[in-house]
Amino acid sequence: MYGQRTHAYLTQSGEAWPERGSEVMGSEVDCVSTSDPVKIGTLLSEASMKVRLVLAVSGLMWVVALGHSALRAQSTTKSIWDGVYTEAQATRGGETYKKSCIRCHLETLKGKDDAAPLTGPDFMDSYKNKLVNALYNKIRTSMPDDDPGSLTDAQVADVIAYIFQFNKFPAGKDELPTDTAKLKLIKIEPAKK
Ligand code: HEC
Repeated sequence: MYGQRTHAYLTQSGEAWPERGSEVMGSEVDCVSTSDPVKIGTLLSEASMKVRLVLAVSGLMWVVALGHSALRAQSTTKSIWDGVYTEAQATRGGETYKKSCIRCHLETLKGKDDAAPLTGPDFMDSYKNKLVNALYNKIRTSMPDDDPGSLTDAQVADVIAYIFQFNKFPAGKDELPTDTAKLKLIKIEPAKK
């Protein structure tokens, strides 16, 4: 491409252009050095370029509009600081915790042996900026470690409410749901914004 354009220019003017790097220069040269029918072709293709440009711009506007609505959807995402469980749910979760988790994760939630802490910086490091869905799936599919799958979905949500309460995330007026699509809208933020 570049080589051809340079050649066209050279044959037209007979001397080398001092700056042969730019594409724009190349295409200017193509225009000047072509005969009439070709020039018409060039004009036509320029016109169709314009049409294409208009189409591209309106397409771009669509993308921007879609981007806006995506942003709006995103802004409905909650944080665990927004009160995403109820006190009553956390109390129920505390019962489940005693029955199914305390033997390994302890009353302090710090965990013994391999049982990872469910409070403090290590816990936050594991889950910060993740969605509650991640914690829900982890517990639902692998905890209690010695009997995975033994909790109902509601018990898993309750026990998370208990863990949140223990970690001093505020309670609110709606229970933490078991619907994973909704749990994907709640972000585990380490600090209140
Ligand atoms: C028999 C011991 C045992 C019991 C009971 C148990 N866990 Fe665990 N838990 C572990 C071990 C070991 C790990 C670390 C290995 C892993 O992540 O799978 C762990 C890890 C976890 C993690 C991941 C922490 C992280 O940093 O990623 C969570 C969350 C968790 N447990 C929650 C629970 C909950 C909630 C219960 C009760 C329903 C429970 N566990 C019951 C042993 C146990």
